[in-house]
Amino acid sequence: MGEKIPPVKGTRDVLPTDTYLKKDDPWVRTGHLQLIEQAARDIFPLYGYREARTPILERTALFARGIGDATDIVSKEMYTFEDRDGTQVTMRPEGTASLVRAYVEHAVQQQGGETKWWYAGPMFRHERQQRGRYRQFTQIGVEALGSTGPRIDAEQIEMLDRWLRFLAVPFEMHVNTLGDARCRPAYRTALQEYLRANADRLCEDCKKRTETNPIRVLDCKNPRCQEVAAGAPRMESYLCDECKAHFDGLRESLTRLGVAHLVDPKLVRGLDYYTRTTYEAIATSGLGSQSTVAGGGRYDGLVRELGGGDVAGIGFAAGVERLALLVAQAGREKEERPVVFLAPLGAAEEARADVLAKHLREAGIAAEVSFRGSNAANQLKRANALGARFALVVGELELSSGRAKLKELRTGEQHEVDLARLPDEVKRLAQNTPPSAA
Ligand code: HAM
Repeated sequence: MGEKIPPVKGTRDVLPTDTYLKKDDPWVRTGHLQLIEQAARDIFPLYGYREARTPILERTALFARGIGDATDIVSKEMYTFEDRDGTQVTMRPEGTASLVRAYVEHAVQQQGGETKWWYAGPMFRHERQQRGRYRQFTQIGVEALGSTGPRIDAEQIEMLDRWLRFLAVPFEMHVNTLGDARCRPAYRTALQEYLRANADRLCEDCKKRTETNPIRVLDCKNPRCQEVAAGAPRMESYLCDECKAHFDGLRESLTRLGVAHLVDPKLVRGLDYYTRTTYEAIATSGLGSQSTVAGGGRYDGLVRELGGGDVAGIGFAAGVERLALLVAQAGREKEERPVVFLAPLGAAEEARADVLAKHLREAGIAAEVSFRGSNAANQLKRANALGARFALVVGELELSSGRAKLKELRTGEQHEVDLARLPDEVKRLAQNTPPSAA
């Protein structure tokens, strides 16, 4: 027997049955992920977002330039390797740079108007593994290109709010503004001067960040750095008139749309492309330190940076695994259960049941047929365990008469049905007693 081969660190399997993660973690099943994704598929198109799919592999330069060399993602977390032809490639750590690359590549700007795209798929970052943080994780994200906002910003934040509320996860929406190329440099200089003056109180990472990416010091988790950050100059007092009007407009729109939100000056985000609006949905319980379920913001310079025109953009991405932990805690799941369980009692009955199951499926009714020869009582137990709505025992009598009893498992009620018309009979009964009445 060969040795067992363990999975790669930071990757996970999610099975249809219970997958035990850690002692105090809830079970996460495929049904939780399906609920999250299906809700996105239902809700995002209501706002005009359409699905786009881009490759997992991209040229390394895309992320180096798009996300920024000095970010944690680019400087230490990317899965980068040389392809067989010598090209430097990276397994995408996020989706925005790729979507913008595709936008530029296919000259989508020429179509005019706004372009709204959503996407879902695996992302890769070599981070320290912990609950809610993995090396392969899944994002569902959206990007809206072609409008400078702030109404589209508010519309997008309202969409995220709607999706998370549908999933019944506990969260707060935080918003902030980072200014733009006109007003941020002066703020950056002032912040840098302040941080240099307080360098002795900063952690080693933040001493480096002071020179490379001073704004990131504001969201360092180290308590001493947080103290320094609390006394730091604030972006708010450096905003130019346009950025201030944009942020005021965003807050007014959010209020008009009924989106509860908090202004959070520490919300600076970890990627360099952001301008003006940034936002995050932060779980208020159930996730521990990795509590940001979704984050995003405006990136008005990114399309130009990646070789396109002057096109403004805003987007967010949500971590599906984090959402799944919360959805599992809330006990919600997309359930896929058979409607009819067919229990044949002998060989001739099995042959008939296989064909009956085929007819049910042709009519769009989920059916499972037992493959284990057993008595009626055991078969019914199995139908219950599968969560089937109806069970149909097929014995000698049923075979010869062409009639059988369809048992409603929840109530025990029996309905006599004509096997030749089984799909119609099931549909009629399912309509008479909707499962939601249970
Ligand atoms: P991000 O904040 O890096 O933004 O990631 C978005 C979300 O992905 C996080 O809030 C978190 O839920 C999830 N996430 C990130 N890293 C991990 C990980 N290692 N394990 C599990 N979940 C993780 C972006 O990626 C931007 N592209 C968002 C955006 C779109 N901005 C504009 N458009």
